[in-house]
Amino acid sequence: MKIAVASDHAGFAMKEDIRNYLFELGHDVEDCGAFSEEKSVDYPDWGIKAAEKVADGRADRGILVCGTGVGMSITANKVKGVYAALCADEFTARLSREHNAANVLVLGGRTTGSELARSIVKTWLGSEPESGRHMLRRQKIADYESRVKNDGAETSGSGRVVIIEHPLIQHKLGIVRDKNTSVKDFRDLVQEIAGLMAYEISRNLPLGEIDVETPLCPTKAFSISGKKLAVVPVLRAGLGMVEGILRLIPNAKVGHIGLYRDPETLLPVDYYCKLPNDIEERDIFVVDPMLATGGSASAAISHIKRLGGRRISLVSLIAAPEGVKKVSSEHPEVDIFLASLDSHLNEHGYIVPGLGDAGDRLFGTK
Ligand code: RB5
Repeated sequence: MKIAVASDHAGFAMKEDIRNYLFELGHDVEDCGAFSEEKSVDYPDWGIKAAEKVADGRADRGILVCGTGVGMSITANKVKGVYAALCADEFTARLSREHNAANVLVLGGRTTGSELARSIVKTWLGSEPESGRHMLRRQKIADYESRVKNDGAETSGSGRVVIIEHPLIQHKLGIVRDKNTSVKDFRDLVQEIAGLMAYEISRNLPLGEIDVETPLCPTKAFSISGKKLAVVPVLRAGLGMVEGILRLIPNAKVGHIGLYRDPETLLPVDYYCKLPNDIEERDIFVVDPMLATGGSASAAISHIKRLGGRRISLVSLIAAPEGVKKVSSEHPEVDIFLASLDSHLNEHGYIVPGLGDAGDRLFGTK
């Protein structure tokens, strides 16, 4: 696991000890500072660095230490997509994962002994989020976060449901819902909406500084650094979103996954899957315009995980609450990006009000 660690001067000694311990446990550690305890420094300067790495997927988890742990907790919990837990015992550490899916652990360097701190870290790393009622409670926090902070969704892997309410997306969605919209317009608009969603989702991709020579002089500019993306459409309707995303992120690789529902077991069976070779290194957008029962999306995500995919988000135009619940309970770490969360599924499994069958409307098969 890749773990970002950070401390101020008061947490420095414990951070160093935990860093060594994480190496011993076989983890990949990124030390975001501070790098000495000589000088008094400000915990937000270091805590934000590590928390942002967790939020944007550059690290799987974070461990922060300051004197009491309080300053680092407050800091980390300001970063969107971070759920930081200050723990002073193993019980709290375990429950902070099982109940709260905390992706950042905070320790008090002046309040907790080093043996206990190691044991807290080991317990925390070995505990996994539970679904059921705890998942629904986490969902409420994520819903609140996306309502009040919906100013750019990033790929954080903390199981958020983000409804992208950009007026252009909502306007175009209104047209694709209309049963009188032609196949051509429907197809064009689904691609446009997918592109606009990708624009919002990629708002916080990390940038690196580069040197550029303009016709006038040399200057500094920016380039997206270190993020590799893969778009994986669920066949066939997911194909309708791929071009729109590639127009914006042309270097993304494209995988494909096809599933059908076994008529006897009613379970999704995958009949085709081809993913980029380095899928485990990529941020993966599984795309499917409709998240109805969630059966295919959840099965597609499970299959991609079996093949090594780690950082997965699901991007759909419209979802039913039933589908969101299914995916969130089976894949609590997967972020779900939507243009609309509709009312319910009808007895035929169609989203209401929805837009009908996206595959048929994209390809004119009905
Ligand atoms: C530093 O003296 C101390 O305030 C800091 O480490 C932390 O405890 C803040 O919450």
